[in-house]
Amino acid sequence: MSLSVVILAAGKGTRMRSSLPKVLHVVADKPMVAHVIDSARHLGAKNIYVVYGFGGDVLKATLTDKKTDENSGGDLIFVEQTEQLGTGHAVDQASPFLKDDEDVLVLYGDVPLTKISTLENLLQAKPDNGMALLTVYLTNPTGYGRIVRQGEQVIGIVEQKDANPEQLLINEANTGILLANGGDLKRWLAGLSNENAQGEYYLTDIIAAAHHEGKTIATAHPETEIEVEGANNRVQLASLERAYQARLAHELMLAGASLRDPARIDIRGSLTTGSEVSIDINCIFEGKVTLANGVKIGANCVLKNCSIGEHVEIKPNSIIEDAIIGENCSVGPFARIRPGTTMHKNSHVGNFVEMKKTTLGEGSKAGHLTYLGDTLIGKNVNIGAGTITCNYDGVNKSQTIINDHAFIGSNSSLVAPVTIGETATVGAGSVIAKDVEKDDLAVARNKQRNIKNWQRPVKK
Ligand code: UD1
Ligand code: MG
Repeated sequence: MSLSVVILAAGKGTRMRSSLPKVLHVVADKPMVAHVIDSARHLGAKNIYVVYGFGGDVLKATLTDKKTDENSGGDLIFVEQTEQLGTGHAVDQASPFLKDDEDVLVLYGDVPLTKISTLENLLQAKPDNGMALLTVYLTNPTGYGRIVRQGEQVIGIVEQKDANPEQLLINEANTGILLANGGDLKRWLAGLSNENAQGEYYLTDIIAAAHHEGKTIATAHPETEIEVEGANNRVQLASLERAYQARLAHELMLAGASLRDPARIDIRGSLTTGSEVSIDINCIFEGKVTLANGVKIGANCVLKNCSIGEHVEIKPNSIIEDAIIGENCSVGPFARIRPGTTMHKNSHVGNFVEMKKTTLGEGSKAGHLTYLGDTLIGKNVNIGAGTITCNYDGVNKSQTIINDHAFIGSNSSLVAPVTIGETATVGAGSVIAKDVEKDDLAVARNKQRNIKNWQRPVKK
């Protein structure tokens, strides 16, 4: 049977104390609701209805922006709930779209960590002539709706504020996540009333309606509580973040990566690791990062959208973004590799080296204190300490080309556009504004003058 998903995202999120709608607050750099949308897509949902209330424009703009989510697109249908009259009323806003012969799963935009396997268990649990509820046993269920059973059979849900003292002792809580047939759901929603302690149309009242019609209400459960927790304030958001990071670190270790401290790594995107990869503390991985076999990442590195080749060592405090690092390279400590940079195999950059839109050829080295921007560097080139490519004249950017086996002496400025020929040498301290031909030596600095027995000035 086909599946549609309704995601409730109409809450204002007052306790976030933010102008951003609550569900756009992020876990691992991704809006909470985008995690939920991802899950819906994983389950193969045909249509995904996002019920929104506040900040519809920013919500739509964010969720359909390819930069936020490369899979964003046509499967999202935004449905406005102009007044927040309760969870039942919220789901009912999607009723005109729901088909009688599909399954409808209700998820929550502020509950981002539900596992796919848990939702699959819920889909499995639903009987043909019934519905399925995700419930959780809590030591302290205060605030949650309670699952009322008669023997084994679920017969209803009672909200905390409507419960009698005996019902308050029930420790099986409603997570809110449920699955029902579209036709049934629409019929039950149409019959809801708001005569209860909160004057709201409770989605939870459909359970009693299902029971009265003789339907079976099956249950499934998450592996851990965090899967069904929402975030109402930034404290809860931070705890979801830590739980999510712990989950990713755990998966990474099971995949064979070795983490010096699984509590001190942050993955805000997708990190793929080969075998024998080791990651020291306080590293941040953003976007899509791949680490090939044998890669070692030192402490305090930030890697964003990059691919790191086999046996590369990234030493501490290095930052790499939108770059490709070939096998057996070494980078850092304190290196900054900016977008558009490629390092070919066996090349090396050391401390305080910045590269931007630069190709460093096989076996080439820039060991210390250097800026290389818009530069094409061949094989086995040595870039001395303090070399600067002057790529910007205040208006335009120009390119520097340094051919194979060239040697750039320390503290040289290469004023682009300029080309250094193969096996050419630049003397230390030179300002090179004209091309240097193959095999030549270029020295462009004042000649040294030595004055005999120089007397330094004395204080008057
Ligand atoms: C709801 C459940 C409760 C369950 C709990 C789990 C009902 C009546 N109660 O209670 O049984 O234990 O969730 O957390 O369903 N929302 C809308 N529009 C509305 C009202 C709510 O979009 O008109 C959204 C909220 O933004 C939120 C979610 O639905 O994301 C749940 O609403 P909330 O008011 O927090 O429900 P609870 O009272 O916590
Ligand atoms: Mg409420």
